[in-house]
Formats: sequence, C-alpha cells, structure tokens
Amino acid sequence: MNNMEYRNWVNSKMNIGQEILYLSMQDVMDTGITVEEIIDLTEKAMVEYSSRNVEMPAKIGLHPQPDSLMHAMPAYLPSEFACGIKWGSNFPTNRERFPDVTPTNCQIIYNDHESGLPLAILDATWITEVRTPAVSLVAAKYLANTDSTTFGMIGCGIQGMAHVKMIERILQPEKIYIYDVFEPAMDKLIELCQPQVKAKILKASSYEEVAKQSEVIVSAIPIHHHPKPVVKDDWISQGQTLITCDCHSVYEDNVYKRADIYTVDSIEQHKLLETYGYYPWGLPKIYSETGAVAGGLKNGRTSKNQLIVSNNVGMAVEDIMVARRVFDIALGKDLGIRLPIWKSTKEPLNISNR
Ligand SMILES: NC(=O)c1ccc[n+]([C@@H]2O[C@H](COP(=O)([O-])OP(=O)(O)OC[C@H]3O[C@@H](n4cnc5c(N)ncnc54)[C@H](O)[C@@H]3O)[C@@H](O)[C@H]2O)c1
Repeated sequence: MNNMEYRNWVNSKMNIGQEILYLSMQDVMDTGITVEEIIDLTEKAMVEYSSRNVEMPAKIGLHPQPDSLMHAMPAYLPSEFACGIKWGSNFPTNRERFPDVTPTNCQIIYNDHESGLPLAILDATWITEVRTPAVSLVAAKYLANTDSTTFGMIGCGIQGMAHVKMIERILQPEKIYIYDVFEPAMDKLIELCQPQVKAKILKASSYEEVAKQSEVIVSAIPIHHHPKPVVKDDWISQGQTLITCDCHSVYEDNVYKRADIYTVDSIEQHKLLETYGYYPWGLPKIYSETGAVAGGLKNGRTSKNQLIVSNNVGMAVEDIMVARRVFDIALGKDLGIRLPIWKSTKEPLNISNR
C-alpha cells in the first residue's frame, strides 16, 4: 500500500480526528503479533535508524526517584508512514514499595503522520518486554560467536526472563548461567523459563561465576546514575560477547575501553547519556552502531578471539515500528476501545465562542 492507500484504509476503519483507539496490554497481545515478527521488525528498525532513514531525536528524561527514569521517545519512520512517542519508565524500587506494580511501564501515543492527529494510545509494556531482547538477539546474531555453548544472564527480572526465553532463537547454548542479587528472582526465572528452553539453567553463586563461565552475557539490572561496576575486568576474556541493556551498570570501565569492538544502538543517544553522567569515566570509543552492523554497513565479528561489547539502551524507532504493526492488526480485528476526542462530535471546540 502506498501512503494515500494506507491512510484511506485507516480512515475507513476509524474517524481520524474524532476518536482514539485505546489498546490495553491484553489488546496488544490479542493482536497475535508473534515474537518472531517483533524480532524482524526490531532488526528492520535498527537498520533504518543506522541508515539515517528515520527521524529520532535522542531520548530525554525525568528522574523522580533515585535511579528511576522516565523517557520520552519520539520517532518517525517515513517508510512505514508511522510516527509517535513512547513514554517509558523504570522504577527499580516498585517491587518493594508497590508489589503489584512492575518496575518497567510504557505507553505509546501513535499519531497520523499526515495530520499529526492521535490515532491510538497503546500499552507498550509488553512490546518493550519483547523488543528489548529482540535488540540483544540482533546484536548476538552479528557480534557473538554463534557456536557459543554458554550464555549468561545478569539480572533476573522482567528482562532477564524474557532474554532467557528468547535466546535460543539465535544461539544454542547448552548451559545458561543466571545471577541476581535477589535470590527469589533467580528461582522464579528457573520456574518460569526452564520448561520453555532446552539449555540447562544454572543458578550461579556470584558475578564472577557468570562472567567466567559464559561466552555470551546479557545484563539487565537497574541503571545507576553513579555506576558501581560489579564485574571485574580480570574476569572477562577475549572472545566473549557482552550485551548490555543497562548502559554502564555492570562491568569495570576497562572492559569497555579494551573491547576490540564497542557498538551502541544510537551514537547520538549515548553522547547525550554521557552528558547526564551515565559514563563517569568517559564514553568509550564507538566502533559502530549495532544497526549499521546488522545492515551490512560495518563488519560484525571477524575473529573468534575478539572481545565485543554491545550497549543498547533502547530506541523509539523499535517501539514505533512494532506499534504500527500492532495498530494495523488491531484496526483490522476491531480490537480495543474507541475514546472520543471531543465530548460532542457535532460541535468542535471553538475558542472564539467561549
Ligand atoms: N535497553 C532497553 O531498551 C531496555 C528496555 C527495558 C528495560 N531496560 C533496562 O533493563 C533493566 C532491567 O529492567 P527490568 O524491567 O528487567 O527490571 P526488573 O526490576 O524486573 O529486573 C531487574 C533485576 O535486577 C536485579 N538486580 C538489581 N540490582 C542488581 C545487581 N546489582 N546485580 C544483579 N542483579 C540486580 C533485581 O533484583 C531484579 O530482579 C533496567 O535497567 C531497565 O531500565 C532497558
């Protein structure tokens, strides 16, 4: 469908400008979008970003609680006729303070790219849960030794579980080492994930054990404004692939600085993060964006012995790319609730008659 055909199709399904489609997390899941589709869409978004085919300013944020974050993430993907903004938060202490509330919560406002009008508001918590490991999988596909038989997961919360459930789509580890400071999180991960993966999941006794035993490691622990690295440089060897969802939270700085290849999802975004203080020892030399490697603009791993670090903090293009697909399916299946923009659809609000 070209631009006008697509917009006419949307217009045939909803009254643009009169109503907004609201999609709950359940509605989003009821679209039936698959994990495989989200992985493909995520890779496409990363490549589009690194090919500079999109508009996506670096995300800005608020920090209402210590080590919390709320990020505003807008993106426009011309090839998809898709634009919108994700408002995503991570409050690590929610688990202790509000046991029924998850630490990560996200919503997307999805807009009509022709008029700017809102088309949908959708819960993006589940989308974030899946597209984040999808980014790590793309990084692993191009940067890891694909014959790796060991995988490590540091942080066993929502992201830890999602990564463990999805990793076998790219790698075939025999053993998965997990570590979390909160032991029940490790037990829960094993209980929920072991039935879904072939590899044996092993509870590690320390960061050192995960670091030394795992060829590929993903980390997803809270991002600290003043990182206190927990994995020592000495424990990391050539040939390993370290993929981080948590910026500079886990490894001693020299690991980043001595890596043969250091990729990030968005150079602009990581430069901004440096100004916020997330790189207290300075931004390491960036070899490339991860999407440029996925798109063939830069080489990925070229030798088994390279130490590679890929630091991907999440990009709005990934969310908006997936949101477009979710929105289309939801419209087609008539999912969700229609919310009026004006209370009365007959008389648009006119400032002059107030
Ligand atoms: N890169 C992205 O696109 C992206 C997307 C979503 C979340 N994140 C980030 O991933 C991280 C995890 O998110 P989540 O939703 O899984 O949160 P979560 O709270 O569900 O999980 C975090 C886990 O880390 C554990 N933990 C805390 N401190 C630790 C430490 N020092 N060592 C080991 N484990 C520790 C906690 O016990 C918890 O189980 C957050 O930093 C979040 O901002 C990144």
